[in-house]
Amino acid sequence: TIDQKVDSLLQLMTLEEKVGQMNQYNGFWDVTGPVPEGGNAAVKYEHLKKGWVGSMLNVVGAQEVRKLQKLVVEESRLGIPLIFGFDVIHGYKTIAPIPLAEAASWDLKAIENSARIAADEASAVGINWTFAPMVDISRDARWGRVMEGAGEDTYLGSQIAKARVVGFQGNDLSKPNTIAACVKHFAAYGFAEAGKDYNTVDIGTTTLFNTVLPPFKAAVDADVKTVMNGFNLLNGIPVTADKFLQRDILKSKWGFDGFVISDWGSIGELVPHGYAKDLSHAADLAANAGSDMDMESTAYVSHLVENVKNGNVDESLVDDAVRRILKVKFELGLFDDPYRYCSEERQKERLNHKDHHAGVLEMAKKSIVLLKNTGNLLPLQKNQKNIAVIGELASDNNSPLGSWRLGSDDHSGISVLEGLKKFTQNVSYAKGPQVFDSEVSFLNEVKVNETDTSGIDEAVALAKVSDVVIMVLGEHGFQSGEARSRTQLNLPGLQQELLKAVYEVNKNMVLVLMNGRPLTIEWEAENIPAILEAWQLGSQSGNAIAQVLFGEYNPSGKLPMTFPRSVGQIPLYYNHFSTGRPNSQPNVFWSHYSDEKNEPLFPFGYGLSYTTFDYTNLKVDTSDESNINVSVTVTNTGDLMGEEVIQLYIHDKVASVVRPVKELKGFKKISLAPKASQNVEFVLTDQELGFYDQNYNFMTEPGEFEVMVGTSSQEYLQKTFIKN
Ligand code: IFM
Repeated sequence: TIDQKVDSLLQLMTLEEKVGQMNQYNGFWDVTGPVPEGGNAAVKYEHLKKGWVGSMLNVVGAQEVRKLQKLVVEESRLGIPLIFGFDVIHGYKTIAPIPLAEAASWDLKAIENSARIAADEASAVGINWTFAPMVDISRDARWGRVMEGAGEDTYLGSQIAKARVVGFQGNDLSKPNTIAACVKHFAAYGFAEAGKDYNTVDIGTTTLFNTVLPPFKAAVDADVKTVMNGFNLLNGIPVTADKFLQRDILKSKWGFDGFVISDWGSIGELVPHGYAKDLSHAADLAANAGSDMDMESTAYVSHLVENVKNGNVDESLVDDAVRRILKVKFELGLFDDPYRYCSEERQKERLNHKDHHAGVLEMAKKSIVLLKNTGNLLPLQKNQKNIAVIGELASDNNSPLGSWRLGSDDHSGISVLEGLKKFTQNVSYAKGPQVFDSEVSFLNEVKVNETDTSGIDEAVALAKVSDVVIMVLGEHGFQSGEARSRTQLNLPGLQQELLKAVYEVNKNMVLVLMNGRPLTIEWEAENIPAILEAWQLGSQSGNAIAQVLFGEYNPSGKLPMTFPRSVGQIPLYYNHFSTGRPNSQPNVFWSHYSDEKNEPLFPFGYGLSYTTFDYTNLKVDTSDESNINVSVTVTNTGDLMGEEVIQLYIHDKVASVVRPVKELKGFKKISLAPKASQNVEFVLTDQELGFYDQNYNFMTEPGEFEVMVGTSSQEYLQKTFIKN
């Protein structure tokens, strides 16, 4: 068995070699070039030859990976192959929608397929491990990394976590086109105070146990091979050194048998956090707490051997970490053939494969959310004349690729303009003012123009002579993602000024939003007749948007994250608790703002279609207490075929740990022909009705529950039932 193989290999290893397996280096040098001389790269190169490195990240290409693998396999004493990691977040070369957009599809099969495509391409360039999926629940759109997650909801996030893990890993990890997944960031990184990246997290056990941890647990139950910890403190302890999380919960309680990787430099960051006095102390703390592999801190490779020798870290803990790492390498088949992911032929064949583009196009269409469609302005007629397309983002073929797309080629996305032109030549374009710097990279801040209005007049002139205007506005592709926190969530720069000026002269307007997070668009939502949330949809973006605008695909997405009216409402999320004063009083003393509504602009789960759906006949059958049956009839009452996401929420009305006002506990996506009806059923078990108490015990309590089934978290039919 693999365990026996791991054990016999472990017995041959020196302490230095064991610690070497726990060390991961970044590979930013030309690995196919000459042997590096001097500097960091030369040190790493020597360590590789000695077997003091277990993994590399950011080395890609069949040839490049082969070269380093060969160095280690042929020159190190035991020849233990490296595992090659990379951030394959939403595609490698063929880029899928950003994960938040994919979550808006509520289509688990499509999401699984998207991860499958990503794994197929990544594994063709030598990668056998992705640092995805990110499953951090977040309620704060100021945090730039919400683009990388599945939004605010734990149930939806858990289902998506599972789908992505299965997509990446497949059913046989040793196949050359499957890769190990890494669920991250363990834990609570999405709750950074004030939405500022890397910031402190201080949350209570109710939120940690019931909101933050379940998607990680779902990934572990789906056999995810690795877990990444994070940069944040959680209630005073850096999660990288948190024994309770990593040893007690993850490894003991959940029985996780893969390995934990630190985040980039997060072991070293225990020092500035004020938790470790120096790097050696940091190595102690992280190793004892259960961080198995050190990403780029050099803490383990420099200090762990001496720390074991002086008794600060028990060698059995090192053995445990190494066992976990070797096990995954065996499962990937690296000991059978260390070069199995290094086929130049497969690399040529699989990257940008036409089936992959077809797959991400489907995914992109499903990810679009129709936010408003007054007077059925959409879909546009195919013979529509005089269409004005306005906005810098309309011709941008880089921004639609979004953030975290390290393997992709710049400018390889299909812009909205390009997509529309494939449908019709009746399109004229005005860029409007230049809002974003034209050449921004992953590593740079995006600068926004707030003053130079040139371009607005030209856009207005075009709108005046056009029959319909499509405005494409939103965020730059690198305006969300890691370290891209914002305090304002409006359309950046001069875009609203442009929008208002154009709207003055032509109100027959569709707003296409391209963004990596919920935005505050209250004026837009009140005034613009049609709004399409198109996020950042990847390589096929423009084609997907054009197909939706012209009705070739009927939008079916639903928001995975609440859109607030203003930044001051944040954190705003549907599954909040009730205050003691939830309702308006004759006087001022109830829970509200004096200058803002309590309600969101667009709630969680919201999204329209070109057709309409009616919900009737909600029934709850409690005759089998452990399988409560809920059913509803859904009818397509419009004239077009359409898909609908039927959402089920519950509310446990009285509990020993107070439960949220509602919680998603089931959903189904169905397709209905015009006038057709379908009876949709859900089963509620203790799993859906229970919760974690403050000691992390899962429990269910008898009592009265409300069940709500409908089209969003705010529009539903409702019934009450008693659970004994
Ligand atoms: O995987 C990422 C992580 O999410 C953020 N820090 C860097 C890692 C590796 O690139």
